[in-house]
Amino acid sequence: MKTIKLLVPIMCCFIALSSCQNSKANKSKTKSLSLTSVEHIEQKVDALLKQMTLEEKIGQMNQYSGFWDLTGPAPNSGNAAKKYEHLRKGYVGSMLNLRGVKNVRKIQKIAVEETRLGIPLIIGFDVIHGYETLSPIPLAESASWDLEAIKKSAEVAAEEAAAAGINWTFAPMVDISRDARWGRVMEGAGEDPYLASKIAIARVKGFQGSDLSQNNTIAACAKHFAAYGFAESGREYNTVDVGTSTLNNIVFPPFQATIEAGVRTFMNAFNELNGIPATGNTYLQRTILKDKWQFDGFVVSDWGSIEEMVAHGHAKDGKHAAQIAANAGSDMDMESYLYVNELAGLVKEGKVKEAYIDDAARRILRVKFELGLFDDPYKYCDEQREKEVIGQHAFHEASLDIAKKSIVLLKNENQLLPLKKQGQKIALIGALASDKTSSLGSWRIAAKDNTAVSVLEGMQAYTGNQLTYAKGADVSLGQTKFVDELNINTTDRSEFPQAIAVAKTADVVVMVLGEVGYQSGEARSRTDLGLPGVQQDLLEAIYKVNKNIVLVLNNGRPLVLNWHQEHLPAIVEAWQLGTQSGNAIAQVLYGDYNPSGKLPMSFPRAVGQVPIYYNYKNTGRPLIPIPNTVFWSHYQDVENTPLYPFGYGLSYTTFEYSALQAKVVSDKEVNVSVTLKNTGKFAGKEVVQLYIKDHYASVTRPVRELKGFELVSLKPNESKNITFTLSEKELGFYNNEGEFIVEPGDFSIFVGGDSNTTLQSKITL
Ligand code: NOJ
Repeated sequence: MKTIKLLVPIMCCFIALSSCQNSKANKSKTKSLSLTSVEHIEQKVDALLKQMTLEEKIGQMNQYSGFWDLTGPAPNSGNAAKKYEHLRKGYVGSMLNLRGVKNVRKIQKIAVEETRLGIPLIIGFDVIHGYETLSPIPLAESASWDLEAIKKSAEVAAEEAAAAGINWTFAPMVDISRDARWGRVMEGAGEDPYLASKIAIARVKGFQGSDLSQNNTIAACAKHFAAYGFAESGREYNTVDVGTSTLNNIVFPPFQATIEAGVRTFMNAFNELNGIPATGNTYLQRTILKDKWQFDGFVVSDWGSIEEMVAHGHAKDGKHAAQIAANAGSDMDMESYLYVNELAGLVKEGKVKEAYIDDAARRILRVKFELGLFDDPYKYCDEQREKEVIGQHAFHEASLDIAKKSIVLLKNENQLLPLKKQGQKIALIGALASDKTSSLGSWRIAAKDNTAVSVLEGMQAYTGNQLTYAKGADVSLGQTKFVDELNINTTDRSEFPQAIAVAKTADVVVMVLGEVGYQSGEARSRTDLGLPGVQQDLLEAIYKVNKNIVLVLNNGRPLVLNWHQEHLPAIVEAWQLGTQSGNAIAQVLYGDYNPSGKLPMSFPRAVGQVPIYYNYKNTGRPLIPIPNTVFWSHYQDVENTPLYPFGYGLSYTTFEYSALQAKVVSDKEVNVSVTLKNTGKFAGKEVVQLYIKDHYASVTRPVRELKGFELVSLKPNESKNITFTLSEKELGFYNNEGEFIVEPGDFSIFVGGDSNTTLQSKITL
């Protein structure tokens, strides 16, 4: 026994050493993995697999949570207690929720020095919109439509997380959602597959960089495969039933895009899809992901989702669940402990093929080699670097940059905004205005409370005005991560009078209202999309004494804002913007940054319209009123349209579109050009959006589909000609056999500043 124990680590060192040399030689030559390095990795994986027992291979497929940050229900204590024992046996391939160099090093040391083969752990963490320095929540970032800034934000997140010992993030979430009730819309890129695909690519590239073996890049994870964003009635974890066309054309494209970008891992989902839980879904994980899309990274389950197949009514018991998940292609078990406990037995009974275990272990080891963990398992464990890198000034600058770009101006009557820099009496009202935690948003496990710049602080930096603050009412009396009690104040109006008094004498009232940071995110579904608590009452009470109100919204999802749109002169959608929130908002309010964000989700007029989205189907009775009859598709009480459509957002300047031309170059290529002019008084940036409508097809197409966009900056009076090329990729769609086709026929091309644009040109392919 002793001889084996000694020999194997030596062999491992040899593998590690040679891989280190190879990697050094490769680093200078290649940015991404070259064919030779891919071959080297495959040889190393082969060599290692040959040495591994069945139990050790299964060990690679087992992931444990760390000891403090829980991001799911608390694990069963019996299993949790086995963590160290399993670590030492080499029965753990990964840990999540482990952070900080000291902690990671301690656990990694056990894996490397105390197990038979010394295989390093891959350390996963939910680095969703930053590690300690937070960027805006992902939905907000998506409102920037700025792919470079989004990529930069992911780069910063990766660099900080990597410095804290982490080498794998469970991001980006690329689930499309059309339902603002679902709390996790804050974590995605909104309702549109084209925009979401571009953003998914930017995020993956930001996290993974061009060389995964560097110690400041981390593996990304496309999640949740698939259709988690279509949870019925927006209720978290609910059943999903999605038809083939929606699956192929709406749900899948952002996932496919992450593969194009080289994403190294996928996470499956809690939901069932058409009767089969995603975790046990062979069609999703093997047929589509691994066979059709040729994904060669690995799939991790979601937290406990293997075991949850019993509750779904798909597996008889835990052992059966492990069998289904492994056969379906779930490679790693997050927090069900069923692989480590059941898989070896299932293989011996012939219920799971050993080839599937080999394949899963191979995929996991491959990513570990690519990360360079065999070269140096402690490459992410440099305490000095941790001290120097986390919270760097440059990261705050990047966070501020994308925070400004994420703000969407929803209304600005009589140019109330930007505020004057001098001589105005400004009342700032609302608990969220002075809050230094809430704007960090949900998914901020490693960020410290009270580290965001508040709006009050941001505005105080502008000293030319008289600024008076009054809270008016508490929204939250404290924020909680894991329980529902959000301490929303629904009764206490005792501080209204003071706020009213302050508002009465002000020239302008800035009210910061909305949701607290943990009111959106996982398991934070809502049926009411209004302002929580007594905030609406406060707003209306202030409105009675001063109508000059700028409403600044802090929220993680679209809200219903009819009263606000009707009564208030100015509305600024400022989401939850992360660490630099208050500075970004102040710069926009004072005109040092001209807002350019555009909504990535439609804002409904009523919750009853949800799910609501711009790329709907016409139906046999299009949504245009038919005179003198009720027999058309509509509601009796609310218009069909959203209050603010997808792609909508104003600027302090105005833009004019003209001279739209679309020219068919071949049966699969169309050139489009348009002229954009800045017709207002401010320099500004516009997101020029191109939509198509395929008038008739073998599978019906939406009334509009985004197929191109460009960010254009113009000075006052400046014009620019913008061109787009539509190719097969933009003109085609997936039929119900899953084939991508382009069909000849009539198309309309629309270009403008939102999805309602009327400027159009027609072509025939
Ligand atoms: C559950 C969430 O659904 C998933 O997105 C997350 O990555 C895991 N928990 C780990 O925290």
